Amino acid sequence: MALNPQTRSWLRTLLDDRVLFDEPMSRHTWFRVGGPADAYVVPERTADLVELVRRAASEGIPYRIVGDGTNLLVRDAGVDGLVIVLRACLREVAVTDRSGETVWVTAMAGARLQRLCRFAAEHGLEGMHFAVGIPGTIGGSVVMNAGTSAGCMADVVDTVTILFPDGATKVLPREQVRFGYRKFSIQEDRSGSEGWVVLGGGFRLRRGDPDRIQKRVIALLERRKATQPLQEPSGGCFFKNPSSGPSAGELIDRAGLKGSRIGGAVVSAVHANFIVNSGSATAADILRLRDRIREAVSKRFGVDLEEEVKIIGR
Ligand code: EPU
Repeated sequence: MALNPQTRSWLRTLLDDRVLFDEPMSRHTWFRVGGPADAYVVPERTADLVELVRRAASEGIPYRIVGDGTNLLVRDAGVDGLVIVLRACLREVAVTDRSGETVWVTAMAGARLQRLCRFAAEHGLEGMHFAVGIPGTIGGSVVMNAGTSAGCMADVVDTVTILFPDGATKVLPREQVRFGYRKFSIQEDRSGSEGWVVLGGGFRLRRGDPDRIQKRVIALLERRKATQPLQEPSGGCFFKNPSSGPSAGELIDRAGLKGSRIGGAVVSAVHANFIVNSGSATAADILRLRDRIREAVSKRFGVDLEEEVKIIGR
């Protein structure tokens, strides 16, 4: 679906050079694949973001927020409508209350999750260890309930600020949001659609020993470096871990798939739950390799692997 001339001119007027038309998403995803977004927009002011969402929703123009593109596979034919990026307008990370043992920190959706992790370590705050080394933005990590076996965003989120498609914003307390394994939803959905946007969150951390926290951060980063193919383009872990039994990586490894290749997509020899782009992969290559992995693991172990990577586009 191409944007009509009125929509293009509205975007140009509102955002000037902060809108790119027919922008290849391969430039904005860690997989380095993906066709063009009709419009790739990076608003600088929150008011512009609100206007974008309000008008797009009311005119039926599809829109979606994209974080750093770390866990995202965009199909080769591209994405309809607006891809909205928050890194230029919602960047703040700050302490809001440090009067007691619990310390409240706010972090906006466009800031990186690693910034919050560093901020916590520098201020001697406990609670973010599970997230050390996970790439991506605060917004993306809330919406995906990012985490590891050591914890997930649900453990530290106290409030979530939501922008609704009608332009209203609301701070929802923890009780009004729901987290699952790599899942997030809100109880209140005014529009009945999925058009709401996470603007940021309030996080509940604890005072801790700064030295211990720093040491743990270093150990976690080293472990990650030793066990994951961080130098190659990928979407992180491709599949969710099954709810019990061996991890997805172990199952794929035991199915003998390390090094398996379709086109430019390869099952990493370092960690089998990573599909890496060896340089020339298309989204279609990656999806075909996904199918091969699912089939092999299902046949061999009777386990249906579910994707963790978010797949979008036409
Ligand atoms: N394993 C293998 N072969 C492999 C990979 C792993 O046998 O090729 C085995 C390991 O030896 C280990 C087990 O599988 O016994 C689990 O592996 P690992 O410790 O690497 O953890 P994981 O469950 O594969 C999870 C998260 C990662 C996160 C790491 C580190 C999921 C799906 N993955 O991986 O998250 O970085 O723990 O804490 O939850 C991501 O979400 O994108 C991601 C990479």
